[in-house]
Amino acid sequence: MILALRYFIQKIRLLLIFMRLQHSIMTKSMLLVVAILLFQSLHGEGSGEIAKTPPMGWNSWNCFRANINESKIREMANAMVNSGMKEAGYQYVIIDDGWATKQRDSTGHIIADATKFPHGIKALADYIHSKGLKFGIYSSPGCYTCQKLMGSIGHEQMDANDYASWGVDYLKYDWCNFPSIEKEALKTPIPECRAAFELMGNCLKKTGRPIVYSVNDECDKGTNDGALPWVKRIANMHRTGDDIKNNWDRMLYCLDLTADLWEYAAPGYWNDPDMLEVGNDSKEALWNHISPLTMTLQEYKTHFIMWCMVAAPLIAGNDLRSMKPEIREILTNKALIAIDQDPLGKQGRRVRKKDELEVWMKELSGGSVAVALFNRSSNPVSMTVHWKELGIHGTRTVSDLWMHTKLGNYKNSFTAVQIKSHEARILLLSPLK
Ligand code: GAL
Repeated sequence: MILALRYFIQKIRLLLIFMRLQHSIMTKSMLLVVAILLFQSLHGEGSGEIAKTPPMGWNSWNCFRANINESKIREMANAMVNSGMKEAGYQYVIIDDGWATKQRDSTGHIIADATKFPHGIKALADYIHSKGLKFGIYSSPGCYTCQKLMGSIGHEQMDANDYASWGVDYLKYDWCNFPSIEKEALKTPIPECRAAFELMGNCLKKTGRPIVYSVNDECDKGTNDGALPWVKRIANMHRTGDDIKNNWDRMLYCLDLTADLWEYAAPGYWNDPDMLEVGNDSKEALWNHISPLTMTLQEYKTHFIMWCMVAAPLIAGNDLRSMKPEIREILTNKALIAIDQDPLGKQGRRVRKKDELEVWMKELSGGSVAVALFNRSSNPVSMTVHWKELGIHGTRTVSDLWMHTKLGNYKNSFTAVQIKSHEARILLLSPLK
């Protein structure tokens, strides 16, 4: 990245010298166009260096809340390897809120709660790296995190440097208590809020370590759309709504808030509808539940399918140590993960919505299209998708990605039958070979 930047600056210098030598306006404007194109290509290259596809991993919050410690996290890293999650593409093991103390040490450094992490964070990161995985951590731009533990205000560069020296590969930066607990109730003006998130982004960059920057910024709450051109420049992923819960309606709320933001997703930046609740039956997670308590197995499948359709970061939130086979089958479904991780990096979008029946499409590399026929109603239905509404034509090979079966070649449309209540039937439409 630094080399690319130096190379770019060198090129611009040469171009400017060359431009000074040229007198014709025509030549100058042509050179300017070349310079802009050069800048754009280098910028794209740089921003895509990390999170080229949506980050995949596991985070402690959904299943443990703040009740974390180093042995739980080590066990989770082991389980990520042993369960086949690592092989399926999950990489980051992320500790959420609950790891830090209420005060910094006497030299101002942020420190881990020694009763929970007696060997310190670096030792934990080393362990996770030794498993071939990556390590993520959590902080807030305010005085305190949401759990009232130390936040980064006034110590951003010091914290970023410490994170880099510990081997952190991912930071979740979460809006809480800014600038202080007393003032939380007052709405922070958007420019100040944005500046706080930009600051940490720049501090992370200055460390020189590639660290995925995941933000829950809330600067422009309720105006997600307006915030995106800004947030896309500073972060690799951005939470689109309030916290997910293990509940069908709440999952749909997170999905719907993400749906219309499809144009912004691209390699290097992803809209984040929040972490997965698939298979999360932990007691800790039920502290602020809403009824009904959990999603059904069918709803978990749909939740995962729709997260793949919107190219969401796939951050599991269940206890991997006791994962049931049917949950593992969902989370490690390679065909679905390939849709999420498709290198083209397009977020899927809703192309039809009628009552509670929806058609979603996601363009993929190689000319294929993933289609989800989404039945949000409480009855089974048949649904027909027309090539026209997807902007494609001719004959396509249709496969059912959940069943791993080729259904045949179809011209102009395809009808799926018996789509169950709360099911999203996921199809792949590929060009004929
Ligand atoms: C919330 C955030 C959650 C979790 C929690 C920790 O603001 O949305 O995902 O990080 O804070 O206190």
